[in-house]
Amino acid sequence: MSDTPQPILLADYTAFGWLIDQVELEFHLAPRATRVLSKISLRPNPDAPAQDFFLHGEELRLIWAKINGERITPEVSKTGLTCAVPDAPFVWEAEVEIDPQDNTALEGLYMSRGMYCTQCEAEGFRKITFYPDRPDVMAPFKVRIFGEDPVLLSNGNPVAQGEWHDPWPKPAYLFALVAGDLRAVSSSFTTASGKDVELNIWVRPGDEDRCDYGLDALKRSMKWDEDVYGREYDLDVFNIVAVDDFNMGAMENKGLNIFNSKCVLASPETATDADFARIEAIIAHEYFHNWTGNRITCRDWFQLCLKEGLTVFRDQQFSGDMRSHAVHRIQDVLMLRGRQFREDNGPLAHPVRPESYVEINNFYTATVYEKGAELIGMLKRLVGDDGYSQALDLYFDRHDGDAATIEDWLKVFEDATGRDLSQFKRWYSQPGTPRLHMSEAFEDGTYTLSFAQDTPPTPGQDVKDPQVIPIAVGLLGANGNEVMPTTVLEMTEAKQSFSFRNSVEGWVLDGPAAAERISGAAPEKPTPSVLRHFSAPVILERDITPETLGFLLSHDTDPFNKWEAGRALAKHVLLTMITQSTQPDALYLDAMAQVAADSALDPAFRALALGLPSQDDIAQALFDSGQTPDPQVIYDAGQSLRDALAAHLEPALAPIYDAMACPGPYSPEAGDAGKRALRHGALGLLSRCDGGARAEALYQAADNMTDQTGALTSLLAIAKGGDQVQAFYDQWHGDRLVLDKWFGMQVSLAKPDQAAQVAHSLAEHPDFDWTNPNRFRALIGGLAMNTAGFHHESGAGYQFVADWLIRLDSKNPQTAARMSTAFETWRRFDADRQDMMREQMQKIAAHDKLSRDMGEMITRMLD
Ligand code: PHE
Ligand code: ZN
Repeated sequence: MSDTPQPILLADYTAFGWLIDQVELEFHLAPRATRVLSKISLRPNPDAPAQDFFLHGEELRLIWAKINGERITPEVSKTGLTCAVPDAPFVWEAEVEIDPQDNTALEGLYMSRGMYCTQCEAEGFRKITFYPDRPDVMAPFKVRIFGEDPVLLSNGNPVAQGEWHDPWPKPAYLFALVAGDLRAVSSSFTTASGKDVELNIWVRPGDEDRCDYGLDALKRSMKWDEDVYGREYDLDVFNIVAVDDFNMGAMENKGLNIFNSKCVLASPETATDADFARIEAIIAHEYFHNWTGNRITCRDWFQLCLKEGLTVFRDQQFSGDMRSHAVHRIQDVLMLRGRQFREDNGPLAHPVRPESYVEINNFYTATVYEKGAELIGMLKRLVGDDGYSQALDLYFDRHDGDAATIEDWLKVFEDATGRDLSQFKRWYSQPGTPRLHMSEAFEDGTYTLSFAQDTPPTPGQDVKDPQVIPIAVGLLGANGNEVMPTTVLEMTEAKQSFSFRNSVEGWVLDGPAAAERISGAAPEKPTPSVLRHFSAPVILERDITPETLGFLLSHDTDPFNKWEAGRALAKHVLLTMITQSTQPDALYLDAMAQVAADSALDPAFRALALGLPSQDDIAQALFDSGQTPDPQVIYDAGQSLRDALAAHLEPALAPIYDAMACPGPYSPEAGDAGKRALRHGALGLLSRCDGGARAEALYQAADNMTDQTGALTSLLAIAKGGDQVQAFYDQWHGDRLVLDKWFGMQVSLAKPDQAAQVAHSLAEHPDFDWTNPNRFRALIGGLAMNTAGFHHESGAGYQFVADWLIRLDSKNPQTAARMSTAFETWRRFDADRQDMMREQMQKIAAHDKLSRDMGEMITRMLD
């Protein structure tokens, strides 16, 4: 593509010149030549500026078009068509032909292993027919599907075989159609107001036994949204379809959610505990979109976080309610730091609400989703739980049926709570992760915490204004007792101090009320627990000794900060091992021995506490402190620390390994899953001592996928498990989802100097069907996740990933572009590695079928 595509700007928004009263679609399905007839009733939009009539359309063969029944000859370009229209209500009709079989981008109408399905978000509907393919154009749809397949599905309520009416006005990106030889696993749900809803999960014959968990998660989601947000479902039927070829996790099409099969199908034998938890979260997420996304949608794609940030926040609340809040919060923060902080601190940093894009598919990011969810969490913390529910009620009342903006969203909070949120709004427009520097002072019985915030420059934005940062703080006394419960400090200035005085009831934030209640006794300096619950998405920087971290790890009452103390300690140990070639610190090893064996703690929590910071985390920390990270050195430090942990903890871990066995039939419930997580964490360390004996035995005895992969992972991590790899393949080669795991584990756990070679041989394997996004992600993404392997000094990892991205880019730009983020951290590394990565990115940018998606990503990364 030689012509540079023009960016789209938020500032350029104008409303579409027409309103649509009704859309009628008729599909005549054929793999190579599907005919789509459309009939659209339009009338002039009194609130829109004058404009030429333009309908989007790409890769469509126009057969004919009519206005008010009269044939016309529109002017058709690569992106759409224009024609003259009456200055009054009119009916547009057209017939187009499309080729679903040829659609490898998996956007629009495509085929996945013989079944028809669609993906229209963000701009795929324009590959189905000519239409104003933008989220602010909402209309009711009637659909008729003609085809040979027994199951013909679309949005809304069924009217007859292959005929569907969706009464709720929706934007085109929520349109969906599925046709195939499918089986339903069904149930029903009675809403709070007594309406029966039919629930179906549609799968290929043979997969019926993997739907129970998804159905159950769906019912729990429906109930939860009624109980917690007061939102009922609004159609007679809710359909979910599992498809094997899908670019993302799942899609919230109205009444017809389409799922990547890996995000909905599960049985104990084929899915791990982590798979079950993810399925529960994604089912909930897509269901929750019915209100936050579908009933209230986005005015334009810049507002993507309006639906995604809020819906992620809601699914996180749900998962916390279903499982453990503490454990979920830790997992969410791990994910935020692993993906979003990485993005926010590199060349792809962008605001939660971007202001320009070339290809919107490149903005379905951790920043829009995960940081977007953090902003909702901060808002809730600032206005309180009651303020939050009042604001949400007002949001649903005021905006039901609207295509809304972030301004609308913040306005409901202002109107419901009386707060001024103009400063808070900066969180939506300022990219970059704020650094929060903290220092303490203790004088005359007054304890003071001082904070300074600053956010490093991001592409296109050098200067940052101070943001509102809710800092949840608790204070602990010398004996470990909590002397001040969690108190939220609101930081609004670049620098700000908060003082605390000792009162008869313990420590309190200093202020007029506090003065009355000062206690007589001379207080001792308390120990602060700062940013409890991870109350803001910032990087906390402070001088803190390993002893204080150890103290917090033992005594903090906030489970997140308890975990965080252990994590900070591990990070500290790794960094000193790397920069000062020291041996692992005994304080850390002792602290871990204590946590591991502390049966008062939730096993899932203990498992998380035993984990080490990722190699990527350590690389970023070194880079932040002005050093050049060496991936091999980071890897080696992690290995030595694991060896030291294993040696030191062996006496404690062996009984834990035995005690955490879950007798009886497998259950995906959080309790058992937590035990298995701790058991497998222990196994990973014990395998370094027993040469893999326990892991081999576990593999042998395993009757569920969690144990099977847990055992195999432990073996691969000590460079063993050859027989088990073969046995796993023999057992599972007929199962697409399980085979993805087989590909992924081998690459992501290979030793750094072998990773590229392992990936290379697996890519030659007859089962490496690289056109399937899950399989591609398992292998190529597996290598990118193997930090030291990807960054191996030979450059073989870079080359392997780049070659495959080029190959995929010409077939499936969206998935290829998303995976190019493997290179986003390139500027952290030494000159040789930078040169090699730059060269590979330039090679990608120069390939002759470079997509707009990939072109934009590479440009942003190299700029
Ligand atoms: N809207 C989907 C979700 O978050 C994600 C998605 C985006 C799926 C684009 C497909 C294409 O739930
Ligand atoms: Zn979503």
